Amino acid sequence: MELLKIDDLKVHFPIHGGVFRRVVDHVRAVHGVSLTLKKGETYGLVGESGSGKSTTGRAIVGLNDITSGDVLFDGKNLKDKKQIKESRQDIQMIFQDPYSSLNSKKRVIDIISEPLRNYKKLSKAEERQRVEELLEQVGMSKESIFKYPHEFSGGQRQRIGIARAIALNPKLIIADEPVSALDVSVQAQVLNFMKDLQQDLDLTYLLISHDLGIIRHMCDRIGIMYKGRIVEEATAEEIYQNPQHIYTKRLIASIPDIDPKNREKRAALREEVKRDYDKTMEHYFDKDGFAYDLKPISASHLVAMPGEGR
Ligand SMILES: Nc1ncnc2c1ncn2[C@@H]1O[C@H](COP(=O)(O)OP(=O)(O)OP(=O)(O)O)[C@@H](O)[C@H]1O
Ligand SMILES: [Mg+2]
Repeated sequence: MELLKIDDLKVHFPIHGGVFRRVVDHVRAVHGVSLTLKKGETYGLVGESGSGKSTTGRAIVGLNDITSGDVLFDGKNLKDKKQIKESRQDIQMIFQDPYSSLNSKKRVIDIISEPLRNYKKLSKAEERQRVEELLEQVGMSKESIFKYPHEFSGGQRQRIGIARAIALNPKLIIADEPVSALDVSVQAQVLNFMKDLQQDLDLTYLLISHDLGIIRHMCDRIGIMYKGRIVEEATAEEIYQNPQHIYTKRLIASIPDIDPKNREKRAALREEVKRDYDKTMEHYFDKDGFAYDLKPISASHLVAMPGEGR
C-alpha cells in the first residue's frame, strides 16, 4: 500500500540581489522529484552534497515551502493547509545533529513532551508517564527525564530525538543523516535500533544519507539524487548489482566490496567509470543541467537515461 506519493515536486529558493533586495534568481534545489513510499518500507535517498535530499525531506514535513508539485500522504494532499494539520502528527523527522537539534536549555521531559503539548491534551501525570514510556522504548532509563541534553552521549541524544519523533505515534519518519554526527562505533547500534523500532511501531522510513554502506544496510529501495532530481531508482540489490546511470555507476564503483564474488564485476565497473565518466556525464543532462525523466527498465528499476526528456 502506498503511504506517500510525491509527484513532480519542486522546491525553489529565491536569491535576492541589488539594493532593493529584489528576487533576481532562484536556486532550484529540488526540480521535479517523484517517488512513492510503500507502507513499512525504508526508502533511501542518496546523493552528493547539495543534490536536494534534505530539501525534499523538509518539504514533506512542511519545513520548506513547496514551489509546485504534489505531496500525497495517506491520500491527503499536503499542499492543502487543513489536511496538513491532520497529517502533521503522522510525519516526523529525525535530524542529523543530536548536539544542536535538541534545545540545550530544556530538560529531557520538556524536549520529548513538546509534540505532546502541541497536539494532545494530557495532564501532567499522563504526560510524565508517556515520556517515561517513550524513554523506555528507546532504551533509556526513566531517571533521564530531569536531565539536560549535555549530560548524554551522542548516541543517547539521538535516542532522545527519536523518542520525541515517535511521541505522537507517527506513520512516517524522515531521518536525515541520523547517524552521521555519531562515532562510527555507535552508528550501527542506533541504526539497528531504528530497524527494531520500525518493526515494533509499523513505521515507514525515508532515510537520507550519503553513506552507501548505511543505505545498503537499511534500505529496501534507493533513489539516487543528482542536482535536484532522482537519476535512478531501484531495489537496493539492483542498484548495487546492476547500476545503469553513469553517476550511480561511479557511486557504486567507489565503495569497497569485500565479497570476492563481486570482485571482478566491481573491477570492470571501475574501469568503465574511469573510461566513460567524464566523456559521457554531460549526455545524461539537459541544457539546464537537469536529468531527463525516469524511464522503467524493469518493474522496479527506473533510470534517467541520456536524451529522453523534457
Ligand atoms: N533555505 C535555503 N535557502 C536557499 N538555498 C537553500 C536553502 N536550503 C537549501 N538550499 C540550497 O538548496 C540546495 C540543496 O540543498 P540540500 O540541503 O537539500 O542538499 P543535500 O542533498 O541535503 O546536501 P547535504 O548532503 O550537504 O546535506 C543547495 O544548493 C543549498 O544551498
Ligand atoms: Mg542534507
